[in-house]
Amino acid sequence: MKRLTVLTGAGISAESGLKTFRDSNGLWEEYDVMQVASIEGWNRDPEIVLRFYNDRRKQLEFTEPNRAHFGLAELEKHFEVSVITQNVDNLHEKAGSSQVLHLHGELTKACSVENKNIVKNIGYREILPGETGEDGKQLRPYIVWFGEAVPAIGKAIPLVKEADYLAVIGTSLNVYPAAGLLDYRKSGSAVYIIDPKEISIHIENAYHIKENAGTGIDKLIELLLKK
Ligand code: APR
Repeated sequence: MKRLTVLTGAGISAESGLKTFRDSNGLWEEYDVMQVASIEGWNRDPEIVLRFYNDRRKQLEFTEPNRAHFGLAELEKHFEVSVITQNVDNLHEKAGSSQVLHLHGELTKACSVENKNIVKNIGYREILPGETGEDGKQLRPYIVWFGEAVPAIGKAIPLVKEADYLAVIGTSLNVYPAAGLLDYRKSGSAVYIIDPKEISIHIENAYHIKENAGTGIDKLIELLLKK
C-alpha cells in the first residue's frame, strides 16, 4: 500500500465546534497564550492554566468528529495512513484513525510537573490543584506548551520522509517544529492542502483545495483514489 501522511491542525476540528487559535474569535483572541499555554504562565498561576484546559477537556467529551476526520479514517482502506496532528483533541481517534501521532500532547491525559514521562489517562475530568501523580508531584495537562520541547517530532520526521503522498489540513503552519516537517518530504512529492484561506508559506508542488475540511476531504479522497 502507498503511504499517506497527513499533518493536521485546529482547522480540521473547526466544523466539530472547536475553536482554532488564530482565526477571528480564535482562542488566542480570547486568552493570553503566554498565560495559559506556556511554562512561565504555569509557574505564575497554575490554577488559571488548569481551568483553561479543564474547560476545553469538558467541552471535548461532547464533541464529535466531522466528515474530515471520518474521511481520513476511511482512507486507511486504500493507503497506509499516518496522521501527525498538532491538535490535542481526540477526534481523529474517535473517527477511527489508527495511526495518530500527537505533536503537542493530548487533552485526555495528565502528567507529573516533574516528569512528563509519568502520564495518566484522565478522560474528560478536571485536574484539581493539589492533585498528584504516582511520584507525589502535582499533575499538569499533558500538553506541549510554548517554550517546551516537542519530543514526538523525532517520530514524525520519518513519517514525512517515507510518505508517497502528503496532505496538510487545517493548519496555519505558524508553529515550529511542526511547520518544518514539510521540508523532509521526498523531493518532488505532491502536497495536498485543505484550507479555506491562503497558506502563509510557499510550498513547492502544492495542490490547494481552498475549502473547509468537511467538504475538501472528499475532493482529496477523489484525487488520491485516481492515483
Ligand atoms: N477547514 C479547514 N481549515 C480551516 C477551517 C476549516 N473549517 N477553519 C479554519 N481553518 C484553517 C485556518 O485558515 C488556519 O489556516 O485552519 C488553520 C488554523 O490555524 P491556527 O489557528 O493557527 O491553528 P494551528 O495551525 O493548528 O496552530 C498550531 O499553534 O497555538 C499553537 O499548539 C497550538 O497546535 C497549535 C499550533
